[in-house]
Amino acid sequence: MRILVINGPNLQLLGRREPAVYGPVTLADLEVLVRRTAADLGVEVEFRQSNHEGDLVDWIGQAPGTFAGILINPAAFTHTSVALRDALTGAGLPAVEVHLSNVHAREEFRRHSWTAPACAGVICGFGADSYELGLRALVSRLKGV
Ligand code: DQA
Repeated sequence: MRILVINGPNLQLLGRREPAVYGPVTLADLEVLVRRTAADLGVEVEFRQSNHEGDLVDWIGQAPGTFAGILINPAAFTHTSVALRDALTGAGLPAVEVHLSNVHAREEFRRHSWTAPACAGVICGFGADSYELGLRALVSRLKGV
């Protein structure tokens, strides 16, 4: 089983970006954690990041047939992108949305997610653990556990 892991804009800056909000973890650290969790679960992962909305839309659209599900941190696109929501709905694959920070405890504009309704569920506020929890939840859903 292959899982596509998608990271949205500015997540390449993790480790240097607002450490009080996002902690010291880098994108490379997140990839290591996700790969370790994937190995534990016996699944394969493809780990990607882009700052460009169209890349994310393309990756989601191309996922069916190659990937069984999608783990996505849409970052700022969470709060802006109807295109990403349509891509997730159109792809029809189970998806889980994750955020490092608790978006509900921050600015008002972060409380709304355009993408969450197209996902099976959302995990936020647990730092790097959000990715591990999200991957475990997604794989459980896919295995019908
Ligand atoms: C984020 C939360 C978003 O509001 C923000 O725009 C990000 C990161 C998170 O992982 O906490 O870039 O998705």
